[in-house]
Amino acid sequence: MNALNENEKIPYVVSSKSYTAVAINCAAKAGEWIKSKLGTVKQLSTKTSAQDIVTEVDKGAEQMIRKLILTHFPDHAILGEEGVAPGTEAYAKALEEAKEEEYLWIIDPVDGTTNYVHGFPFYSVSIALAHHGEVIIGVIYDPSRDELFVAEKGKGAYVHGNPTLVSKEEHLSESLLATGFPLDSKVNLPRNMAELQTLLPKVRNVRAGGSAALHLAYVAAGRISGYWEHGLSVWDVAAGALLVQESGGKVTDIDGQPYDLSVRHIAATNGLIHQPLLDTLKDAGSETNG
Ligand code: IPD
Ligand code: CA
Ligand code: CA
Repeated sequence: MNALNENEKIPYVVSSKSYTAVAINCAAKAGEWIKSKLGTVKQLSTKTSAQDIVTEVDKGAEQMIRKLILTHFPDHAILGEEGVAPGTEAYAKALEEAKEEEYLWIIDPVDGTTNYVHGFPFYSVSIALAHHGEVIIGVIYDPSRDELFVAEKGKGAYVHGNPTLVSKEEHLSESLLATGFPLDSKVNLPRNMAELQTLLPKVRNVRAGGSAALHLAYVAAGRISGYWEHGLSVWDVAAGALLVQESGGKVTDIDGQPYDLSVRHIAATNGLIHQPLLDTLKDAGSETNG
Protein backbone atom coordinates (compact mmCIF):
# COMPACT_ATOMS: atom_id res chain seq x y z
CA MET A 1 0.00 0.00 0.00
CA ASN A 2 1.37 3.44 -0.95
CA ALA A 3 1.74 5.79 1.97
CA LEU A 4 0.70 9.38 1.16
CA ASN A 5 2.82 12.22 2.46
CA GLU A 6 1.17 15.36 3.93
CA ASN A 7 0.94 17.18 0.57
CA GLU A 8 -0.60 14.25 -1.28
CA LYS A 9 -3.59 13.75 1.01
CA ILE A 10 -6.70 13.05 -1.00
CA PRO A 11 -9.21 15.82 -0.23
CA TYR A 12 -12.41 14.59 1.40
CA VAL A 13 -15.22 15.29 -1.02
CA VAL A 14 -18.75 14.70 0.18
CA SER A 15 -20.85 13.41 -2.67
CA SER A 16 -24.49 14.41 -3.06
CA LYS A 17 -25.35 10.80 -2.17
CA SER A 18 -24.11 11.47 1.37
CA TYR A 19 -26.37 14.50 1.60
CA THR A 20 -29.30 12.34 0.61
CA ALA A 21 -28.34 9.63 3.08
CA VAL A 22 -28.14 12.16 5.91
CA ALA A 23 -31.48 13.71 4.95
CA ILE A 24 -33.11 10.26 4.89
CA ASN A 25 -31.54 9.27 8.19
CA CYS A 26 -32.70 12.52 9.86
CA ALA A 27 -36.25 12.24 8.54
CA ALA A 28 -36.56 8.57 9.48
CA LYS A 29 -35.13 8.98 12.99
CA ALA A 30 -37.16 12.12 13.76
CA GLY A 31 -40.28 10.53 12.27
CA GLU A 32 -40.00 7.41 14.40
CA TRP A 33 -39.47 9.51 17.52
CA ILE A 34 -42.44 11.75 16.70
CA LYS A 35 -44.65 8.72 16.20
CA SER A 36 -43.51 7.22 19.50
CA LYS A 37 -44.66 10.44 21.24
CA LEU A 38 -48.11 10.44 19.64
CA GLY A 39 -50.80 11.11 22.25
CA THR A 40 -48.30 12.25 24.90
CA VAL A 41 -48.06 15.99 24.13
CA LYS A 42 -47.67 17.98 27.35
CA GLN A 43 -46.78 21.49 26.23
CA LEU A 44 -49.12 22.96 23.67
CA SER A 45 -48.36 26.62 23.02
CA THR A 46 -49.62 29.07 20.44
CA LYS A 47 -47.59 31.23 18.05
CA THR A 48 -49.28 33.95 15.96
CA SER A 49 -52.85 32.91 16.82
CA ALA A 50 -54.82 30.29 18.75
CA GLN A 51 -54.80 28.11 15.62
CA ASP A 52 -51.04 28.33 15.12
CA ILE A 53 -49.70 25.75 17.56
CA VAL A 54 -46.39 24.23 18.56
CA THR A 55 -45.50 21.42 20.96
CA GLU A 56 -42.42 20.08 22.70
CA VAL A 57 -42.38 17.34 20.05
CA ASP A 58 -41.92 19.89 17.21
CA LYS A 59 -39.05 21.46 19.14
CA GLY A 60 -37.45 18.15 20.16
CA ALA A 61 -37.61 16.79 16.62
CA GLU A 62 -35.99 19.90 15.19
CA GLN A 63 -33.18 19.69 17.78
CA MET A 64 -32.61 16.06 16.87
CA ILE A 65 -32.41 16.85 13.14
CA ARG A 66 -30.14 19.88 13.67
CA LYS A 67 -27.71 17.82 15.76
CA LEU A 68 -27.55 15.03 13.20
CA ILE A 69 -26.97 17.41 10.29
CA LEU A 70 -24.27 19.35 12.10
CA THR A 71 -22.50 16.12 13.10
CA HIS A 72 -22.05 15.37 9.41
CA PHE A 73 -21.78 18.88 7.99
CA PRO A 74 -20.67 21.33 10.68
CA ASP A 75 -20.23 24.17 8.16
CA HIS A 76 -23.72 23.98 6.69
CA ALA A 77 -26.48 26.45 7.56
CA ILE A 78 -29.90 25.40 8.86
CA LEU A 79 -33.25 27.12 8.57
CA GLY A 80 -35.79 25.31 10.72
CA GLU A 81 -39.31 26.39 11.58
CA GLU A 82 -38.71 26.24 15.32
CA GLY A 83 -35.55 28.33 15.03
CA VAL A 84 -37.36 31.37 13.59
CA ALA A 85 -39.47 33.76 15.67
CA PRO A 86 -43.16 33.80 14.67
CA GLY A 87 -44.42 36.56 12.37
CA THR A 88 -43.79 37.72 8.82
CA GLU A 89 -40.99 40.18 9.61
CA ALA A 90 -38.77 37.68 11.41
CA TYR A 91 -39.52 35.15 8.68
CA ALA A 92 -38.55 37.50 5.84
CA LYS A 93 -35.30 38.44 7.60
CA ALA A 94 -34.35 34.82 8.35
CA LEU A 95 -35.05 33.72 4.77
CA GLU A 96 -33.18 36.64 3.23
CA GLU A 97 -30.07 35.79 5.25
CA ALA A 98 -30.37 32.06 4.68
CA LYS A 99 -30.76 32.33 0.90
CA GLU A 100 -27.16 33.51 0.61
CA GLU A 101 -25.76 30.35 2.18
CA GLU A 102 -23.79 27.88 0.08
CA TYR A 103 -25.47 24.86 1.69
CA LEU A 104 -28.76 25.42 3.50
CA TRP A 105 -30.83 22.72 5.18
CA ILE A 106 -34.51 23.62 5.40
CA ILE A 107 -36.45 21.76 8.08
CA ASP A 108 -40.07 21.36 9.06
CA PRO A 109 -39.82 18.89 11.95
CA VAL A 110 -43.58 18.24 12.08
CA ASP A 111 -45.64 19.43 9.14
CA GLY A 112 -49.22 19.01 10.26
CA THR A 113 -48.91 19.76 13.97
CA THR A 114 -52.67 20.26 14.34
CA ASN A 115 -53.25 16.76 12.95
CA TYR A 116 -50.52 15.37 15.18
CA VAL A 117 -52.03 16.89 18.31
CA HIS A 118 -55.46 15.46 17.45
CA GLY A 119 -54.13 12.03 16.48
CA PHE A 120 -55.23 12.49 12.85
CA PRO A 121 -52.61 10.41 11.03
CA PHE A 122 -51.57 12.86 8.31
CA TYR A 123 -48.37 14.63 9.30
CA SER A 124 -44.78 14.46 8.12
CA VAL A 125 -41.15 15.44 8.52
CA SER A 126 -39.85 17.59 5.68
CA ILE A 127 -36.16 18.17 5.01
CA ALA A 128 -34.61 19.91 2.00
CA LEU A 129 -31.07 20.90 1.10
CA ALA A 130 -30.51 24.00 -1.04
CA HIS A 131 -27.24 24.85 -2.77
CA HIS A 132 -26.87 28.59 -3.43
CA GLY A 133 -30.65 28.92 -3.12
CA GLU A 134 -31.56 25.98 -5.37
CA VAL A 135 -33.16 22.91 -3.81
CA ILE A 136 -31.04 19.84 -4.63
CA ILE A 137 -32.50 17.28 -2.20
CA GLY A 138 -35.98 16.85 -0.79
CA VAL A 139 -37.07 14.19 1.68
CA ILE A 140 -40.53 13.84 3.21
CA TYR A 141 -41.33 11.08 5.69
CA ASP A 142 -44.84 10.03 6.70
CA PRO A 143 -44.45 8.03 9.92
CA SER A 144 -48.11 6.92 10.00
CA ARG A 145 -47.73 4.97 6.75
CA ASP A 146 -43.96 4.51 6.92
CA GLU A 147 -43.64 6.19 3.53
CA LEU A 148 -40.40 7.90 2.64
CA PHE A 149 -40.38 10.22 -0.38
CA VAL A 150 -36.95 11.18 -1.74
CA ALA A 151 -35.99 13.52 -4.60
CA GLU A 152 -32.58 14.46 -5.94
CA LYS A 153 -32.23 17.31 -8.42
CA GLY A 154 -31.87 15.90 -11.93
CA LYS A 155 -32.04 12.30 -10.70
CA GLY A 156 -35.74 11.68 -10.16
CA ALA A 157 -37.91 11.02 -7.15
CA TYR A 158 -38.82 7.85 -5.30
CA VAL A 159 -41.12 6.45 -2.68
CA HIS A 160 -39.61 3.36 -1.06
CA GLY A 161 -37.25 3.04 -3.98
CA ASN A 162 -40.01 3.10 -6.63
CA PRO A 163 -39.98 6.09 -9.02
CA THR A 164 -42.81 8.55 -8.44
CA LEU A 165 -44.73 9.96 -11.38
CA VAL A 166 -47.40 12.63 -11.46
CA SER A 167 -50.94 11.74 -12.54
CA LYS A 168 -52.26 11.97 -16.10
CA GLU A 169 -55.50 13.94 -15.80
CA GLU A 170 -55.74 16.48 -18.59
CA HIS A 171 -58.83 18.34 -17.44
CA LEU A 172 -59.95 19.92 -14.20
CA SER A 173 -63.20 17.98 -14.45
CA GLU A 174 -61.36 14.68 -13.82
CA SER A 175 -58.92 16.10 -11.26
CA LEU A 176 -58.68 15.54 -7.52
CA LEU A 177 -57.07 18.60 -5.92
CA ALA A 178 -55.91 19.58 -2.46
CA THR A 179 -55.55 22.87 -0.68
CA GLY A 180 -54.93 24.18 2.83
CA PHE A 181 -57.07 26.63 4.77
CA PRO A 182 -54.99 29.71 5.63
CA LEU A 183 -54.74 31.00 9.20
CA ASP A 184 -54.68 34.61 8.03
CA SER A 185 -58.37 35.51 8.14
CA LYS A 186 -57.99 38.96 6.58
CA VAL A 187 -56.48 38.28 3.16
CA ASN A 188 -55.62 34.64 2.51
CA LEU A 189 -58.68 32.95 4.01
CA PRO A 190 -61.29 34.97 2.04
CA ARG A 191 -59.18 34.43 -1.08
CA ASN A 192 -59.11 30.68 -0.49
CA MET A 193 -62.86 30.54 0.19
CA ALA A 194 -63.57 32.35 -3.11
CA GLU A 195 -61.26 29.95 -4.92
CA LEU A 196 -63.00 26.91 -3.46
CA GLN A 197 -66.37 28.24 -4.47
CA THR A 198 -65.19 28.75 -8.05
CA LEU A 199 -63.16 25.54 -8.33
CA LEU A 200 -65.35 22.94 -6.62
CA PRO A 201 -68.01 22.76 -9.34
CA LYS A 202 -65.27 22.34 -11.96
CA VAL A 203 -63.22 19.52 -10.42
CA ARG A 204 -63.83 16.00 -9.15
CA ASN A 205 -63.23 17.15 -5.58
CA VAL A 206 -60.89 19.01 -3.24
CA ARG A 207 -59.20 17.68 -0.09
CA ALA A 208 -57.57 19.61 2.74
CA GLY A 209 -55.46 17.06 4.60
CA GLY A 210 -53.47 19.48 6.75
CA SER A 211 -49.85 18.80 5.73
CA ALA A 212 -48.52 20.90 2.88
CA ALA A 213 -45.48 18.66 2.52
CA LEU A 214 -47.57 15.48 2.23
CA HIS A 215 -49.92 17.13 -0.26
CA LEU A 216 -46.91 17.91 -2.44
CA ALA A 217 -45.59 14.36 -2.03
CA TYR A 218 -49.02 13.11 -3.12
CA VAL A 219 -48.94 15.30 -6.25
CA ALA A 220 -45.51 13.78 -6.99
CA ALA A 221 -46.85 10.25 -6.47
CA GLY A 222 -49.88 10.87 -8.72
CA ARG A 223 -52.36 10.45 -5.86
CA ILE A 224 -53.77 13.92 -6.40
CA SER A 225 -53.68 15.94 -9.62
CA GLY A 226 -52.70 19.24 -8.05
CA TYR A 227 -52.42 21.33 -4.91
CA TRP A 228 -52.44 25.02 -4.12
CA GLU A 229 -52.20 27.03 -0.93
CA HIS A 230 -51.63 30.62 0.17
CA GLY A 231 -49.31 31.97 2.83
CA LEU A 232 -46.89 29.07 3.23
CA SER A 233 -43.30 29.13 4.48
CA VAL A 234 -40.18 27.78 2.81
CA TRP A 235 -40.01 24.75 5.17
CA ASP A 236 -43.56 23.68 4.18
CA VAL A 237 -42.73 23.38 0.48
CA ALA A 238 -38.99 23.22 -0.34
CA ALA A 239 -38.69 19.41 -0.26
CA GLY A 240 -42.12 18.83 -1.81
CA ALA A 241 -41.52 21.25 -4.69
CA LEU A 242 -38.47 19.24 -5.77
CA LEU A 243 -40.42 15.98 -5.42
CA VAL A 244 -43.11 17.30 -7.78
CA GLN A 245 -40.61 18.64 -10.32
CA GLU A 246 -38.58 15.44 -10.31
CA SER A 247 -41.78 13.42 -10.81
CA GLY A 248 -42.63 15.30 -14.01
CA GLY A 249 -44.94 17.93 -12.49
CA LYS A 250 -44.94 21.70 -12.41
CA VAL A 251 -44.51 24.07 -9.46
CA THR A 252 -45.03 27.83 -9.62
CA ASP A 253 -46.42 30.57 -7.48
CA ILE A 254 -50.11 31.22 -7.93
CA ASP A 255 -49.36 33.93 -10.51
CA GLY A 256 -47.38 31.43 -12.60
CA GLN A 257 -43.84 32.54 -11.68
CA PRO A 258 -41.34 29.68 -11.35
CA TYR A 259 -40.84 28.22 -7.88
CA ASP A 260 -38.02 29.59 -5.75
CA LEU A 261 -37.38 29.70 -2.01
CA SER A 262 -39.33 32.94 -1.56
CA VAL A 263 -42.63 31.58 -2.97
CA ARG A 264 -45.42 31.71 -0.35
CA HIS A 265 -48.51 31.11 -2.53
CA ILE A 266 -47.91 27.84 -4.30
CA ALA A 267 -49.48 25.82 -7.11
CA ALA A 268 -48.14 22.34 -7.86
CA THR A 269 -49.73 20.04 -10.42
CA ASN A 270 -49.17 17.22 -12.88
CA GLY A 271 -48.35 19.96 -15.42
CA LEU A 272 -51.33 19.17 -17.66
CA ILE A 273 -53.87 20.99 -15.50
CA HIS A 274 -51.50 23.72 -14.34
CA GLN A 275 -52.69 26.57 -16.54
CA PRO A 276 -56.39 25.72 -16.18
CA LEU A 277 -55.92 25.69 -12.40
CA LEU A 278 -54.10 29.05 -12.39
CA ASP A 279 -56.73 30.54 -14.72
CA THR A 280 -59.54 29.38 -12.45
CA LEU A 281 -57.80 30.72 -9.34
CA LYS A 282 -57.39 34.03 -11.15
CA ASP A 283 -61.08 34.05 -12.10
CA ALA A 284 -61.84 33.65 -8.41
CA GLY A 285 -59.84 36.81 -7.77
CA SER A 286 -56.71 35.32 -6.26
CA GLU A 287 -54.02 37.59 -7.76
CA THR A 288 -51.42 37.87 -5.05
CA ASN A 289 -49.91 40.96 -3.57
CA GLY A 290 -47.22 39.40 -1.40
C1 IPD B 1 -48.95 23.72 8.30
C2 IPD B 1 -49.45 22.59 7.46
C3 IPD B 1 -50.84 22.89 6.93
C4 IPD B 1 -50.88 24.15 6.15
C5 IPD B 1 -50.31 25.29 6.97
C6 IPD B 1 -48.92 24.96 7.47
P1 IPD B 1 -47.34 23.17 10.39
O1 IPD B 1 -47.67 23.47 8.81
O2 IPD B 1 -48.61 22.35 6.37
O3 IPD B 1 -51.28 21.88 6.06
O4 IPD B 1 -52.20 24.42 5.79
O5 IPD B 1 -50.26 26.43 6.16
O6 IPD B 1 -48.42 26.02 8.26
O7 IPD B 1 -47.61 24.43 11.14
O8 IPD B 1 -48.20 22.06 10.82
O9 IPD B 1 -45.90 22.84 10.33
CA1 CA C 1 -45.39 23.28 8.10
CA1 CA D 1 -44.13 22.49 11.55
